[in-house]
Amino acid sequence: MRPLIAGNWKMHGTLREAVKLAEALREGAEGVDLLVCPPFPHIHAVAVSLLGSRVAVGAQDCHAAQRGAHTGDVSAAMLRDAGATHVILGHSERRMDHGENDAAVLAKTEAALGAGLVPIVCVGETEAERLAGLADSVVEKQLAGSVPYGFVTAGGIIAYEPVWAIGTGRTPGEQEIAAIHATLRRALVERFGPSARSTRLLYGGSVKPGNAAAILALPDVDGALVGGASLVAADFLAIARAVPG
Ligand code: 13P
Repeated sequence: MRPLIAGNWKMHGTLREAVKLAEALREGAEGVDLLVCPPFPHIHAVAVSLLGSRVAVGAQDCHAAQRGAHTGDVSAAMLRDAGATHVILGHSERRMDHGENDAAVLAKTEAALGAGLVPIVCVGETEAERLAGLADSVVEKQLAGSVPYGFVTAGGIIAYEPVWAIGTGRTPGEQEIAAIHATLRRALVERFGPSARSTRLLYGGSVKPGNAAAILALPDVDGALVGGASLVAADFLAIARAVPG
């Protein structure tokens, strides 16, 4: 399957900087799909600036409801209307900052599917959970609790992001990444059948130009979800070019 390199811009950048960054990515990279996920206020302008390019635009969250009295929230249909095709859901920063549990992520993922957005559901263990030998069981539980029926046929994507590797410059060992991705693949195939073999599994957490080639060559790693390095066009493109050909 074609790998996906996705940039999570988190809460960074002015509107002008976002458009400039998007324009620097317009050319894309050979043999790889690119996606950028700007903050809400920048989505539309970034989507306009990427029209006609092979770079897709996503959001970083959505509300579970279609509309209503939810001050400060944004619906999946609004994101679609603004030009997004994807949405990151259940990122560990949302799970921590906003108390999102698996049930909340499940409801948001259903809303995303209902609006025709491709959800990217994030799972990942904390450092304490890894040290306790619980990494596999934690991600399996998150997967079971946050991924709804219809996810695989709609092209839903899973991102494995160990919480302790995000923004720290640390990553799990290659064998550890491969082992968790194998666990995720097995769990998806058990639940959804053989079609889940083509579900994209992304790795996220301190992916940089220097470690991307080794990570992206691992079995069942179908791309990356990149934070910090996605804010620098040259670094993001270097990661995209590190995908094995
Ligand atoms: P970093 O690449 O900055 O570690 O962030 C990863 C991440 O959280 C992407 O969603």
